[in-house]
Amino acid sequence: MIRTKMTELLGIEYPILLGAMAWITTAGLVAAVSNAGGAGVLGSGGRDDTWVREQIQKTKTLTNRPFGINVSLATTPMRDKIVDAIIEEGIDFVTLGAGDPRPFIGRFKDAGIKVVCIIPNTKLAKRVEAAGADMIVIEGMESGGRIGNLTTMALMTNVIPEVQLPVAAAGGIVDGRGLAAALVMGADGIQMGSRFLLASECESHRSNAEAIIQATDTDSCTIGWSRGKGLRGLKNRFAERYLEMETSGVPTEELGKYVQGCSRRVADLGQGEEETNGIVQVGEGLVPLKKIQPAAEIIREVMREAEAILKNAPALVQE
Ligand SMILES: Cc1cc2nc3c(=O)[nH]c(=O)nc-3n(C[C@H](O)[C@H](O)[C@H](O)COP(=O)(O)O)c2cc1C
Repeated sequence: MIRTKMTELLGIEYPILLGAMAWITTAGLVAAVSNAGGAGVLGSGGRDDTWVREQIQKTKTLTNRPFGINVSLATTPMRDKIVDAIIEEGIDFVTLGAGDPRPFIGRFKDAGIKVVCIIPNTKLAKRVEAAGADMIVIEGMESGGRIGNLTTMALMTNVIPEVQLPVAAAGGIVDGRGLAAALVMGADGIQMGSRFLLASECESHRSNAEAIIQATDTDSCTIGWSRGKGLRGLKNRFAERYLEMETSGVPTEELGKYVQGCSRRVADLGQGEEETNGIVQVGEGLVPLKKIQPAAEIIREVMREAEAILKNAPALVQE
């Protein structure tokens, strides 16, 4: 058994968070992860407050274990309504990213909702700790989806010694070796997105899972740096076209139109369509992603591997 500040705080059995994935982490997958002893997280990116209410209610019918919801703090017409809906419905915790979480921490905490902030650097980590956050996820640029500039290793090296809060590491962690390494680095657990894209309960189209299984470590790329932030996913015709547009200096508004709605299209559409309609967002930990299996099996496997590694670790030290 592995007990950490993170399992204590969230009231979960294993130190594994499901990384929220817009259009992908819905009630079924979230409840499957929570029922298996991790913590599921709904992805509210691109959704509205009605969807948020329905999904929180639905997840509550599928699990009585703790689960959370992710809110993208980028200013959208929906953001404030989503925050109100979460507070009215009630949930165990929120994960806050894509912006400065500090103005939102007090409202959630006053409503009895724990606040987990997704953090790309030490400065923001210290600031959210001072502002009352309960936990942070440090998310390295190996992650699938929107990314910052620092690697997971650099974040663990820099951030962990500077904060007292529980820390989960994310980005390129897909197995028990990754969990063991994060714990040895001083983290209290991990957040995984990509590995759960291969969960049987994941509703993203199967053609995306197949593309991920076929991919090797050099098949991921990042697009969008010219618009301020990178987005990591599989190199395909869509990504290559985007990169060509980026390097040839196409105006940012046009690039914005090209990517608009692409994550929804990729999550929803059928065989082969991801080639032309969007980028399959996934992290750099690709080689071990070989099969589709139930979320509970993923969690059991990751825990078994991590425990075996940690039990054997003392043998590395010779007197
Ligand atoms: C398809 C996809 C969609 C994602 N969408 C979101 C999102 O809506 N909000 C968020 O905070 N993180 C999002 N992420 C990041 C994940 O929550 C998680 O931190 C990341 O996947 C961890 O790295 P890994 O992919 O190497 O496991 C997304 C990741 C992927 C792969």
